[in-house]
Amino acid sequence: MWLMLSMSYCIVALVLSKDIRTPNSYTSIFREEQVIFSSVFNITSILVPADSTKYIPADISDIPSIFFTISDPRLDGGSCIYVLEGLAAYEVLEGGRDSTADYGSNKTIYFGAKDGLYKYDAESLSAKKFGPFKDDIHQLQKGNNTDAIFILSSERKIYKIEKNGTIKTLIQSILCAVEFVLDTDNNIYYISCDDRIPHIVRQDGSYIRYVTTAGEDFKDIKLLRPAFIMENCVPFFADGVLYILYSNGTSEKKDFYIRERPSAYSVDATLYLVAALNGKIYEFNVMEVLLKSMFGVVSRWPSDVTKIIMSIIESAKDSVYKDWTNILDH
Ligand SMILES: *[C@@H]1O[C@H](CO)[C@@H](O)[C@H](O)[C@H]1NC(C)=O
Ligand SMILES: *[C@@H]1O[C@H](CO)[C@@H](O)[C@H](O)[C@H]1NC(C)=O
Ligand SMILES: *[C@@H]1O[C@H](CO)[C@@H](O)[C@H](O)[C@H]1NC(C)=O
Ligand SMILES: *[C@@H]1O[C@H](CO)[C@@H](O)[C@H](O)[C@H]1NC(C)=O
Ligand SMILES: *[C@@H]1O[C@H](CO)[C@@H](O)[C@H](O)[C@H]1NC(C)=O
Repeated sequence: MWLMLSMSYCIVALVLSKDIRTPNSYTSIFREEQVIFSSVFNITSILVPADSTKYIPADISDIPSIFFTISDPRLDGGSCIYVLEGLAAYEVLEGGRDSTADYGSNKTIYFGAKDGLYKYDAESLSAKKFGPFKDDIHQLQKGNNTDAIFILSSERKIYKIEKNGTIKTLIQSILCAVEFVLDTDNNIYYISCDDRIPHIVRQDGSYIRYVTTAGEDFKDIKLLRPAFIMENCVPFFADGVLYILYSNGTSEKKDFYIRERPSAYSVDATLYLVAALNGKIYEFNVMEVLLKSMFGVVSRWPSDVTKIIMSIIESAKDSVYKDWTNILDH
């Protein structure tokens, strides 16, 4: 616990010591030294599996396995899933489109591909077919604390697949979705094909309309699967501005803007963030920076990244939020 509390102190210290920036100056958070993988093709999905049972990896230099999808028109299905182990990338599934994993301690990784669901076999660095369905899957998300996996098919429908991959149910209230994510309470947030804004179908099946505020006219929206400490909400970027969208349909604009338009993100793990831009994967190892500053090592860090972390922590479950902020009262 002390480590977590000290970290929250450091985050606050980092936020307070942020450099003062004029509105016209823009420093990109995407810097060459943060690149951990690069390809000539676009990266369309990334997953750093979360482990909600611990914030701190046993070995801090232990970079988690990162699953990502490269879009390459020459391949069967137009894409391929790789796993990055250390600094080496291994091909796992040609025709694979997206990866997902539980938020909890179950380390099973699932893939959605041009011909259905697969399960990762870490021993052989390969994928094994999971269940009988052969849908052409664009995106998938593992539910929290249930065996359900939600998929977005090429017909833009969302299905729930349960019972060891054997039962498939159409989510009828969603007519057409461009993309979707689940929050940690298994509410579905999706961008609808017609109006291109977020909509919500709650875990109980009820439909929630996004509450727009005056002046909002988003051109480019990207939903993010939330960090494991977040509850009843998901982050999204709209024209480069970070928002938190709550399951009641309201949203909150955060003081964070990026000019770039990453093609994929994973913030699942909370303190180890990755984003893909122009075929490169950038890592933001918040943990390492926090620990270095705890031990007095001054590190230069784009202050903006701390804003993302603060936004995540602010929308965490009450208990987690208290853990992280308690230190301020002492
Ligand atoms: C990468 O994606 C961008 C934007 O969608 C597209 O214009 C570009 O052609 C893609 N590049 C490759 C190599 O597929
Ligand atoms: C994880 O979940 C899968 C599917 O429910 C199950 O087959 C597997 O045994 C679980 N693994 C662990 C380590 O609990
Ligand atoms: C799930 O399906 C696989 C493959 O058909 C089978 O080997 C396994 O026993 C099933 N597991 C459960 C828990 O039903
Ligand atoms: C997952 O669901 C369980 C049970 O509803 C809940 O206690 C937990 O906070 C949720 N989130 C994560 C990240 O496990
Ligand atoms: C929606 O939920 C958020 C977060 O729980 C809360 O702050 C807000 O007041 C709620 N808005 C309404 C209209 O209920």
